[in-house]
Amino acid sequence: MKRLRWLLVAYWFGVFLILRLAEAQSQEGFISLDCGLPINEPPYIESETGIQFSSDDNFIQSGKTGRIPKNLELENLKQYATLRYFPDGIRNCYDLRVEEGRNYLIRATFFYGNFDGLNVSPEFDMHIGPNKWTTIDMAIVPDGTVKEIIHIPKSNSLQICLVKTGATTPMISALELRPLASDTYIARSGSLKYYFRMYLSNASVLLRYPKDVYDRSWIPYLQPEWTQISTTANVSNKNHYDPPQASLKQAAIPTNLDAPLTMVWSLENPDDQIYFYLHFSEIQVLKANETREFDFVLNGETINTGVISPKYLEITTRLTTNPRQCKGGICRMQLIKTQRSTLPPLLNAFEVYSVLQLPQSPTTESEVVAIKNIKSTYRLSRITWQGDPCAPKQFLWDGLNCSITDDISSPPRIISLNLSSSGLSGTIVSDFQNLTHLESLDLSNNTLSGMVPEFLASMKSLLVINLSRNNLSGSIPQALRDRERKGLKLYVLGNKYLCLSNTCNKPKKNFPVTIVAPVASIATIVVVMILLLVFKKKMSSSMECLYNLVESRTIIYISLYIYIHEFDLPAGNKSEPWIQTKKKRFTYSEVMEMTKNLQRPLGEGGFGIVYHGDLNGSEQVAVKLLSQTSAQGYKEFKAEVELLLRVHHINLVSLVGYCDEQDHFALIYEYMSNGDLHQHLSGKHGGSVLNWGTRLQIAIEAALGLEYLHTGCKPAMVHRDVKSTNILLDEEFKAKIADFGLSRSFQVGGDQSQVSTVVAGTLGYLDPEYYLTSELSEKSDVYSFGILLLEIVTNQRVIDQTRENPNIAEWVSFVITKGDTSQIVDPKLNGNYDTRSVWKALEVAMSCANPSSAKRPTMSQVIINLKECLASENARISRNQNMESSHSSVELNVTVTFDTDNVKPIAR
Ligand SMILES: *[C@@H]1O[C@H](CO)[C@@H](O)[C@H](O)[C@H]1NC(C)=O
Ligand SMILES: *[C@@H]1O[C@H](CO)[C@@H](O)[C@H](O)[C@H]1NC(C)=O
Ligand SMILES: *[C@@H]1O[C@H](CO)[C@@H](O)[C@H](O)[C@H]1NC(C)=O
Ligand SMILES: *[C@@H]1O[C@H](CO)[C@@H](O)[C@H](O)[C@H]1NC(C)=O
Ligand SMILES: *[C@@H]1O[C@H](CO)[C@@H](O)[C@H](O)[C@H]1NC(C)=O
Ligand SMILES: *[C@@H]1O[C@H](CO)[C@@H](O)[C@H](O)[C@H]1NC(C)=O
Ligand SMILES: *[C@@H]1O[C@H](CO)[C@@H](O)[C@H](O)[C@H]1NC(C)=O
Ligand SMILES: *[C@@H]1O[C@H](CO)[C@@H](O)[C@H](O)[C@H]1NC(C)=O
Repeated sequence: MKRLRWLLVAYWFGVFLILRLAEAQSQEGFISLDCGLPINEPPYIESETGIQFSSDDNFIQSGKTGRIPKNLELENLKQYATLRYFPDGIRNCYDLRVEEGRNYLIRATFFYGNFDGLNVSPEFDMHIGPNKWTTIDMAIVPDGTVKEIIHIPKSNSLQICLVKTGATTPMISALELRPLASDTYIARSGSLKYYFRMYLSNASVLLRYPKDVYDRSWIPYLQPEWTQISTTANVSNKNHYDPPQASLKQAAIPTNLDAPLTMVWSLENPDDQIYFYLHFSEIQVLKANETREFDFVLNGETINTGVISPKYLEITTRLTTNPRQCKGGICRMQLIKTQRSTLPPLLNAFEVYSVLQLPQSPTTESEVVAIKNIKSTYRLSRITWQGDPCAPKQFLWDGLNCSITDDISSPPRIISLNLSSSGLSGTIVSDFQNLTHLESLDLSNNTLSGMVPEFLASMKSLLVINLSRNNLSGSIPQALRDRERKGLKLYVLGNKYLCLSNTCNKPKKNFPVTIVAPVASIATIVVVMILLLVFKKKMSSSMECLYNLVESRTIIYISLYIYIHEFDLPAGNKSEPWIQTKKKRFTYSEVMEMTKNLQRPLGEGGFGIVYHGDLNGSEQVAVKLLSQTSAQGYKEFKAEVELLLRVHHINLVSLVGYCDEQDHFALIYEYMSNGDLHQHLSGKHGGSVLNWGTRLQIAIEAALGLEYLHTGCKPAMVHRDVKSTNILLDEEFKAKIADFGLSRSFQVGGDQSQVSTVVAGTLGYLDPEYYLTSELSEKSDVYSFGILLLEIVTNQRVIDQTRENPNIAEWVSFVITKGDTSQIVDPKLNGNYDTRSVWKALEVAMSCANPSSAKRPTMSQVIINLKECLASENARISRNQNMESSHSSVELNVTVTFDTDNVKPIAR
């Protein structure tokens, strides 16, 4: 029956008008992704259904955006104008947040439209989690294909994957999820693939949302030997299935009143197991001597659903609770009137699904959550790290191995993880311990820092751990040592700050001990010892920073060296190198060479201009050249070198080397390719607008840097010049604080704060209390950070004389008290943020910017609060399309697929 198939294909693409209903209906829980819609394009309302579509960008890590030629675009179906295609990788997956155990209708639409100009119809597979769903062959249905399935996710995340199976490139136009009522469409096992869903009418209108609250699509269908009857009265459609009322207002009866109502079609696969859902409503007024009664017969067998006798203007739904097979793959569905019935059978609407078995169990959920967290913590962007980590076997994630038993219904476990040489930095996060069946863990050759976590010892299955070649510090936990004695293989070589001897398990309180001090030569140590003796009294003020037991001897040496020179240095006139360190010392000519004679200035830092440089043609650097005339500058220069040598933190810009030759002083830093935060906020840097989540991440990272200065260093350090131009961003937008020229350390205890003679800082960010009292404390940085945070939220100038309140903090509190809050948040964010998250950040900012330093929080408190902001923003993003489901949750086991190209009814 060609017509039917044509209908199925065509209606999606605009042949039928979808009747619009003005009444607004809830789209709660709907996920409607317009694949390939650029991320910066706001969500839009599709004109035919009123459904809001948005970009799929947040739900997939790979793929490229395609656009079909204008002349092939389908009017009113904007969601098919763009698409996402996947030239890279074999399996590419959407990762959607869903409600575990809830029944979802999942619909994927593919419209090729020769977007790539190649005119080659793609052919590929779709997977749902670790199981195959269907094959898409666009050569069979060049106009476009819709696939639909009713499926109950087994966890809160659902992976829909496109899998390359040949030479052509997979692509997708739209992906939609619709939560269904809880006790509907239940299959005994597996999920339900769509065969067809029809209402019997000669109309040419497709029924969809909002007429169908679940956004199922009902296709009008009428066979020539049938007669249509209809009513203008309202029909109650209220049962769990809730088909559109319009689908019940019409019905088909056989034109020959004594004949059965018969439909015949062939199955795609003769062994398919079929579920039927039939919806009836009596729409004729029966006279007293009339009855309408009939049986549901499939291939000659009466289906034991009881005699059907629809009630007047009320829905009756009959379904098969067990799946049925159609002999020989030909289904002959009949409604046959009973002996006593005076009227022919009638049918209003019906649905047919086949069972899709999903035998492979997904990987244990807690392990999936853990490995996903590891992936996001370390920003791993491997193309294979999509979809289920372990299954199917051929798509195992790179670096992973799993136990997959022959019983594929038992969930696979991750048994080995190899992230060697993968650019991991930061600490070893606790998510690793949730990989409870891990036997081998290789994290070698990265830049992991922090301690070797104790939890490794409690991972019972572990046999091998390789932590070699990282920046781990501290000592090895005793429990892990004990495991080692019982056979665990632990490799930790090449962590120069890691203490390997047993004596270092209890570090002495005040004096850092390092076993490995590759840089400090014997000579240095001798000098240190002498200096220590000479300056014993001053030792209390010698400096150290936590986790930076690093080259502690060198540091002390330098500190003291600098200390000496505080008194006798003819500023700006030192010929002798005063920095003894492993950091490379460069000559002035080398500096000129690396900057190509100061060819490319990057900007102006405190007391000098910063140039772009190139180290051995490989490493990019930023070179700050101290202006030669500045006597004051020399002091700042020294201060900065001193500080940068003491501190070592991922959120502080690190020093690569320095130059101090005659009158020439230069500092060579790591190059931060994305410039400073101010450029990004002001739009000077170009590129896309920093979204709210990124801004929060940057704020948190800057706050971590400050927290380290305040609490990780003894004596504490105050940066004194926190501002958006001093927050630099590397290529991954990781934030680092720069420009320590004004930084000061001060003693904690005794006098809590230090009176400094010169108040320094930048107008607008400068702590008013510090300004008035000249008393320096870390709370001054907190103030400046508050201003920075206000800048991040509002993107307003910190001081703007054209504002009623030039100072940003006053302006914000003024606007808030006026109750006019809409204008506070940066309009460039386009409303794309979690309101609670933004307001909380504002609250944090305002408390930091409190005029009274005593009332300001510490940076540690700030970090906790900002992390909450980020969490609620992240929750919004994952919820984004999920739109908070308020429908009662459900426990079902069903799935349906919508296979337009499968439907091949044949002439009866
Ligand atoms: C559909 O059927 C009804 C009644 O049988 C008839 O009045 C109407 O004209 C038909 N509509 C179309 C479009 O054929
Ligand atoms: C059907 O119901 C709607 C409201 O639900 C009402 O406005 C309309 O008048 C009803 N039509 C008939 C024929 O009863
Ligand atoms: C039912 O009764 C009507 C009169 O009310 C009569 O015209 C009709 O023939 C009867 N139908 C049957 C099947 O008996
Ligand atoms: C991970 O492990 C920790 C401690 O064993 C546990 O509290 C937490 O719930 C686990 N997380 C998941 C997602 O299972
Ligand atoms: C994965 O583990 C299995 C045993 O469970 C082993 O046979 C296979 O070689 C391992 N694969 C890799 C890549 O290590
Ligand atoms: C991890 O992978 C690297 C290569 O990427 C390999 O050299 C190393 O042996 C692997 N480690 C383990 C434990 O298999
Ligand atoms: C360590 O990683 C670097 C790149 O990150 C790589 O060039 C080097 O070969 C790796 N070394 C080993 C021993 O795997
Ligand atoms: C541990 O990792 C390092 C660096 O990748 C490597 O050189 C070494 O061979 C590994 N050791 C073992 C036992 O795998």
